[in-house]
Amino acid sequence: LAALAVALLFGYLLGSIPSGVIITRMAGLGDVRKIGSGNIGATNVLRTGRKGLAALTLLGDALKGAIAVLLAARYAPDAALVAGFGAFLGHLFPVWLGFKGGKGVATYLGVLIALAVPGALVFAAVWLIVAAITKFSSLAALVAAVAVPIALWILGAPYVAELFALLTVFVFVKHRANISRLLAGNESRIGSKE
Ligand code: G3P
Repeated sequence: LAALAVALLFGYLLGSIPSGVIITRMAGLGDVRKIGSGNIGATNVLRTGRKGLAALTLLGDALKGAIAVLLAARYAPDAALVAGFGAFLGHLFPVWLGFKGGKGVATYLGVLIALAVPGALVFAAVWLIVAAITKFSSLAALVAAVAVPIALWILGAPYVAELFALLTVFVFVKHRANISRLLAGNESRIGSKE
């Protein structure tokens, strides 16, 4: 039990490092939370017009999820899922930002890469197809996040499927403003500045 608690806390602290906020601030762009959707993720960093910084944000937010899982897997294999869950929660509710964090998509993918590569490939494929067709990052993430638990279950990874079903619920709750905008027809498209 102690190992699980430590993994959860360690994952949480790693996950709560806000890559997007740090990277945009270091680039002299000010606070990414004051532009576009106000989110701290790669999609909103892209609204600064800096593709490289958006890619770095995606990488940083995914890596912290993957690292949390891989380090836990090494020292306490039973705690790997819990560490990934902690990292995801850390991104959503970071202590450094008054618990107002991101929407979790990149960290979801990072945790998934570390736990089940086939599931991550499903996520990436679905995201890319929906994004290519609609140009909505949010919609692509929502559809991919529905596909992942189903795919994991079909692939025979029931525990990981259960974890990701839970993470998908969080992703949907965090995207409620995006869902309203999608339904109202005024969600911003990838690459658009608003
Ligand atoms: O990963 C977040 C993305 O799905 C939506 O971001 O900035 O358009 O709310 P944003």
